[in-house]
Amino acid sequence: MSFSEYENVILKETEDGVAVLTINRPKALNALNLSALQDIGDALREVKARNDIRVVIITGSGAKAFIAGADIKEMQHDSVTEALKLSKLAHKSFGEIEHLPQFVIAAVNGYALGGGCELASACDMRIGSMSAKVGQPETGLGIIPGFGGTQRLTRLVGRGKAKEMIATCDMIDAEEAYRIGLFDEIVDPDKLMDKAIEIAHKIMKNAPLSVARAKYSVDRGADLPLDIAIDIESQIWAEMFGTKDQSEGMAGFVEKRDKHFIGK
Ligand code: CAA
Repeated sequence: MSFSEYENVILKETEDGVAVLTINRPKALNALNLSALQDIGDALREVKARNDIRVVIITGSGAKAFIAGADIKEMQHDSVTEALKLSKLAHKSFGEIEHLPQFVIAAVNGYALGGGCELASACDMRIGSMSAKVGQPETGLGIIPGFGGTQRLTRLVGRGKAKEMIATCDMIDAEEAYRIGLFDEIVDPDKLMDKAIEIAHKIMKNAPLSVARAKYSVDRGADLPLDIAIDIESQIWAEMFGTKDQSEGMAGFVEKRDKHFIGK
């Protein structure tokens, strides 16, 4: 079953069922305008409906950029109302990443600036090419990060580092992004997609509902007081004992055989 065609993104699936979403505006270094943000949300909603797809990899077209931010040329003359519309659309589309039952890997192949760093930060994990450069250049443009950068980046790297990146507009390289916990893995540029696929394959061996519900538990609990978060985890943990995959997973262990998960 093939995916729809989009103006600003390419959505494809590998033979073994990994969806690859490529942001495709190479002339603008994959900068995000209203239409691209809409396409990202629509493409992810399409993936969400496909329970045979277990992992999504998001990357940028070309060798130079993952996403060079929001499209400055298109938003340059925006009014306050138009700017709010753009930010809300970005929140809706990036929110789809977090709400997907599928696991989402950002394969950061080059510049991830402003909205690019913000989209990567919304993913479940980030693999950086050694050639990647990351930054939040908004205060140098007279604005602030508006696609989640003051919030998700802070949650990933801590308040001090996030505020330093935002206030200085410094672009950091892949090793520094790895050191501060923004990148979870760093690899040579020509190994980036191989690494993302390798991780996708490991995830696909495990029970689909378990991966989806664990993702939810981590994200839901992260901003709650520990006692409430732990309670949510208990509920979800117990819920898994009502699934066929729990019976299969534990029987497979006890019987020393391969497990065949069905996502139920
Ligand atoms: N918006 C629109 N167009 C962009 C763009 C952006 N964010 N980033 C790059 N482009 C365009 C350039 O204008 C240029 O187009 P033309 O050939 O028509 O002039 C083309 O992409 C290639 O870019 P450069 O010639 O600038 O390439 P470079 O190698 O010299 O520099 C770069 C690369 C350092 C990434 C530089 O392009 C750059 O600084 N881009 C802007 C980065 C930025 O400020 N991003 C934040 C945007 S604001 C934001 O994201 C707000 C938010 O919170 C969501």
